[in-house]
Amino acid sequence: MKLIKKYIKKYIKKDSNLYLFYIWLRDRWLAVNWLLKGRPISPPHFIKQRVVQTYAQTYSLATLVETGTYLGDMVFAMRTHFRRIISIEIDDNLYRLSNARFHSRLYEHVRIIHGDSSVVLPELLSELQEPCLFWLDGHFSGEGTSRGQTKTPILDELYTILTHPFSHVILIDDAHEFSGEGDYPSLDNLFAVVTRLFPTRKMMVIDNVIRILPGRDSTYSLGGKSVTPVLEVEKIHRDQWLRGFLR
Ligand SMILES: C[S@@+](CC[C@H](N)C(=O)[O-])C[C@H]1O[C@@H](n2cnc3c(N)ncnc32)[C@H](O)[C@@H]1O
Repeated sequence: MKLIKKYIKKYIKKDSNLYLFYIWLRDRWLAVNWLLKGRPISPPHFIKQRVVQTYAQTYSLATLVETGTYLGDMVFAMRTHFRRIISIEIDDNLYRLSNARFHSRLYEHVRIIHGDSSVVLPELLSELQEPCLFWLDGHFSGEGTSRGQTKTPILDELYTILTHPFSHVILIDDAHEFSGEGDYPSLDNLFAVVTRLFPTRKMMVIDNVIRILPGRDSTYSLGGKSVTPVLEVEKIHRDQWLRGFLR
């Protein structure tokens, strides 16, 4: 497997059709392995992509805001699923690489912003005039990545998004990091604060992704039926990513 990876990295141009086919196969292989192993804590990136895509469809969200671009893999995977994609990266080199990756007419709907998400988000939200999907993944992740004043800007990010006058859908990667140590709150504390201060939001954790959704008890109409978003989104999530596995 290592040899194949080395060969592909060396000889196949990134984002070429052959490379995309390799990614398509690799993603499904990793997902099947993850399922066969009984869904260990951290799912492969492909499963995270499916989660983002499913919430966008369910809540009809056309704008994705990501914190922590890294090499732009989530942006690339979501390129055809959103009308507008904005991603924020603090690291100089990663910003340069990902900005170059999306610097073409094919990606006019993609914007990579260089900066600390805790500073950039408040400015950005003043521009956003519709509910958006937030993929919060901007945290220090070891060598080759950077950090702002804290290891994770998550509390600043959440405050900015939850006090904005639109009902955004928030997905936070790496729930296992929320241990109450370092700059991370514990999951229990986060849950208590979010549900107390923002009683119209529902928070849950599935497959290591924290989901903060609008409309705790409210219902909405789907295909003429009145449904509870949280229950419905999970049902769609289960059905859809299994069914869409081979797409
Ligand atoms: C786990 S990686 C992101 C992976 C990416 N979201 C994906 O799905 O492919 C985390 C990234 O967040 C960046 N980062 C760390 N602190 C940040 C901050 N305060 N603002 C913006 N980006 C930050 C790191 O440099 C790193 O590239």
